[in-house]
Amino acid sequence: MTVTAPERVARCRPTGRHIGILLLLSTLVGCGREQSTLNPSGQDAQSIATLFWVMLAGAVVLWLLVNGAFYYMSRVRPGEMNERYARHILIGGGIVLPVVVLTSLLVWGLSLLPDPRQPGDGLVVRVTGEQWWWRVEYWPDGAEAPIVSANELRLPVGQRTEIHLTADRVIHSFWVPALGGKMDMFPGRETMISLAPEKVGTFRGQCAEFCGASHAWMAFAAVVMEPGDFDDWLEAEATDAVPPATEAARRGATVFQEQGCGACHTVRGTDAVGQVGPDLTHVGGRESLGAGRLKVTREDISAWISHTEDLKPEVRMPSYDLAPDALEDLARYLEGLT
Ligand code: CUA
Repeated sequence: MTVTAPERVARCRPTGRHIGILLLLSTLVGCGREQSTLNPSGQDAQSIATLFWVMLAGAVVLWLLVNGAFYYMSRVRPGEMNERYARHILIGGGIVLPVVVLTSLLVWGLSLLPDPRQPGDGLVVRVTGEQWWWRVEYWPDGAEAPIVSANELRLPVGQRTEIHLTADRVIHSFWVPALGGKMDMFPGRETMISLAPEKVGTFRGQCAEFCGASHAWMAFAAVVMEPGDFDDWLEAEATDAVPPATEAARRGATVFQEQGCGACHTVRGTDAVGQVGPDLTHVGGRESLGAGRLKVTREDISAWISHTEDLKPEVRMPSYDLAPDALEDLARYLEGLT
């Protein structure tokens, strides 16, 4: 088929698909370091990143070889080819080379991939996927009851921690890209992944399995701490909630009680013992509110309580239409639960 000059020009113009690809690439710029497999901050993530770079290099080399051969045949030495030479090219380049390269990459890749179920060094964290938040329970070595938290995972650096995973109603997937691979979470079944973070810092975890309307809003912070800091934090996390310190916070605690928040939420040391929603005993000390949705500021707490259904579609917690003063007091109370 011959192509006229105007047709060539038309073919080179950016089409919808080109623009789409450009837009897609530009979104990659937004892949921050806190949630990136290319920012490996744990043993397992390091192996995965190495595998990626070597596979990418292998793919680039093969691509250059194939296209180089193509260019050579079509531009440098076009025309009829000696049959014996052509057979060598076909068998060598088309069968032997890919089999050797792909087999060696496969064997090497399989040997490198971390065992996601390596036993840990003692600490076990049980994480349950809910719609759409994370129930988190810490079981230190020898503990008889868990220390309950939510929507945040804290880990000691330099140790391997077992994360035991399950789910409430639908399948979710636990994933902290900077620390390791992902693992599915099933209702009625327990899976396990262990992580060995190597850098102190805050990383972002995200549910990686579609689980309903607010799947994209199911995130959490994975905070990696020095072992001593972690022990101090865990000890503080195990305590009951601090009593409200100001008059406004005390009024907020009354609002919390009157509105029946305790039917769904637990604030240890108070009458609130609900198990439906996240434990709020130390909610004021967390990195995020609503499972990565908002910050834990008074403004965001107020926004969350009054607009849950807008901020997280189909969430089970209804939006509360409180008087502005009551909402402010309630936010002060929750902010103070550090
Ligand atoms: Cu939970 Cu997607």
